[in-house]
Amino acid sequence: MRILLASSLLLAASVATAQTPYTEDSVYRGLGGKQGIARIVDSLFEISLADPRIKDTFDGFDIPLIKERLAEQVCEYAGGPCKYTGKYKNRDMKSVHEDMKLNNLHFNALAENLQIAMERNNVPASVSNRLIAKLAPMQRDIVTAGGGAPEAKPDHGKFIATGGVSTVEGSAGGGIVPWALITGYGTRDSWGASAFATRVSTPDYKLLSYGAAVGIGDRVEVSLARQDFEGELAPLDRLRIKQDIVGLKLRVAGDAVYQQDSWLPQIAVGLQYKKNKGVDGLAALGITSVRHLGAKSERGTDFYVTATKILFEQSLLVNATLRSTRANQMGLLGFGGDKESSRKLMPELSIGYLLTRKLVLGAEYRRKPHNLGVDNEKAYKDIFLAWLPSRHCSLTAAYADLGTLTVFNPKTQRGAYLSAQLAF
Ligand code: HEM
Repeated sequence: MRILLASSLLLAASVATAQTPYTEDSVYRGLGGKQGIARIVDSLFEISLADPRIKDTFDGFDIPLIKERLAEQVCEYAGGPCKYTGKYKNRDMKSVHEDMKLNNLHFNALAENLQIAMERNNVPASVSNRLIAKLAPMQRDIVTAGGGAPEAKPDHGKFIATGGVSTVEGSAGGGIVPWALITGYGTRDSWGASAFATRVSTPDYKLLSYGAAVGIGDRVEVSLARQDFEGELAPLDRLRIKQDIVGLKLRVAGDAVYQQDSWLPQIAVGLQYKKNKGVDGLAALGITSVRHLGAKSERGTDFYVTATKILFEQSLLVNATLRSTRANQMGLLGFGGDKESSRKLMPELSIGYLLTRKLVLGAEYRRKPHNLGVDNEKAYKDIFLAWLPSRHCSLTAAYADLGTLTVFNPKTQRGAYLSAQLAF
């Protein structure tokens, strides 16, 4: 945990101011120099002029000239020997684009097409991400439309992976830690949604979790999840516990994607209302409720604040969450206990490396309170690989260490975590 925290702080501290061109030429070289950049810009326009989201915007413009200017600008920002002067000399990015009334969907579409163009021209993801780190803050100048009330039609407009995957409690995030990202692919001008199913299998038990979430205006998230816990090994092989979770998240500040030139992460606050549905399979022992195990209550609400930053410069996603909770094992064993009953503030951390646009390798840590005498509760940890073949689906595989979720066989409570998410 200390290593994760220290590396997150170190990385946050090393965020460069991104809106000035690189002073060294490694990105320029990584793009393949002037010729490489010319090929990338060619591919970008080939893709964009066939892209229904933005192709009409280019009608009537002098495409070869835009290409030349854009190549000049990319070369300059990448640290190459070029200077963008501009077709109109004094016109900046705001004046160049403002008549077009571009919104976030348009901006993201072009940026995504640029990423694809770089992929097609064999630019390594780390270089491609560094160029995106320089261009993303231009959103503030280029996007002059939208930002009003979200439209009823989903726009599928966010960058891939920026809706997160689904946690076992239903909120957008990693596997066990909620992030400040809002689920689905709706930009601030629209809405999106996701549905997921996750299975964690250890020799000792299985946890199945499934649910759905809606993101509105890339600001508000509402989620519903059901958790089904099943003991596997005697004497708990008949044990069944179910829990329902309703989540609400509100993004309050920052933008994880566009603000590459600022320290501010995307920040959200959230709650998860949890209702334990009782304990089955232990009636012979007189246990039918989590209260019989020492829990004070069958329901409880976690409150959290979470901060997420995508550091394109370093190809990293970092997240820190602070949760106020009295849940035992997320609530599967109820809330409060014989040992301790008050709320505790618990840190949760995630870090992910963007191997490619569609592949994230990461680790998570989640500290939990220890309220029950019968359960020696420990932190959750996992190492995950999330694969997003498209915006509409993702698969996350992880190796999870869920501490001692049952007391009988604590050594075997590590195992495979597999999660599938559908999103739009
Ligand atoms: C990071 C994003 C973007 C960058 C770096 C960028 C860069 C540029 C550059 C360098 C020019 C040439 C300006 C000149 O001739 O001096 C330009 C023009 C243009 N861009 Fe963008 N652009 C971006 C986003 C977009 C988007 C999202 C669209 C539309 C979907 C768009 C549409 C156009 C059009 C139509 C022109 C021609 C303007 C004119 O000639 O008056 N751009 N852009």
